Amino acid sequence: IICQNYVEAFAEFELMIQRSKFGDAGKRVVVEEFLSGIELSVFVLTDGKNYVLLPEAKDYKRIGEGDTGLNTGGMGAISPVPFANDEFMQKVKTKIIEPTISGFQKDEFDYKGFVFIGLIKIGDEPFVIEYNCRMGDPETEVVIPRIKNDLVELLQATAEQKLDKVQIEIDPRFAATIVAVSGGYPNEYQTGFAISGLSLAEEDTMIFYAGAKKDGNKVVTSGGRVLCTTSLADDLTEALERSRELIEVINFDGNCLRKD
Ligand code: GLY
Repeated sequence: IICQNYVEAFAEFELMIQRSKFGDAGKRVVVEEFLSGIELSVFVLTDGKNYVLLPEAKDYKRIGEGDTGLNTGGMGAISPVPFANDEFMQKVKTKIIEPTISGFQKDEFDYKGFVFIGLIKIGDEPFVIEYNCRMGDPETEVVIPRIKNDLVELLQATAEQKLDKVQIEIDPRFAATIVAVSGGYPNEYQTGFAISGLSLAEEDTMIFYAGAKKDGNKVVTSGGRVLCTTSLADDLTEALERSRELIEVINFDGNCLRKD
């Protein structure tokens, strides 16, 4: 619950604690400072001792253009993130990633895998919003295409605690992904519509399927976020333009995407 002032916060607190608004789950309340800034997603792969920094990304969660309407899992994403300059990323490493990894060791928390750190940039400072022990979606669709290393070798080095021997190689180009969703998503939506206009991936353009499945010779919708198109290009505008060209020929009943 985002409360605008003390009175609202107090009223919510009463509802949760005294009136059991969330049942037993509301018996313990966490109060946090409200942070207002711009969000980005940072990813590391850690073997518990060492880590490699993967490309950062920014996803766009609102259903509507201009970041309006309901929150979704993500309507698109870009990588790299223009406002995450070297100086900012250095702060992310020293103030957030390194203490996180040494915290794993201090707490004897034997974790090997992806750490997705949801950050917010306020002024020039990074603040943590959340940690996830997974990649993000649709961030993955712009992060993984920029990693030039063999992914299996990276995962093997993670499992064998040899990430200190790995040199991560990142494609300097921009990646942009656009998601096509079922009409009505993130509320109720229908599925089973035939998808037309699908093409095979070409160099530097890709289609990733999510809420889609094969039905005989056809591909039909089977979920809210149906598919997305990713392109790599030397500049962000071109990457977006190519992803847009690819997704605009794809069609299904109720098809919806953000054009911004
Ligand atoms: N796109 C946000 C997430 O995967 O949590």
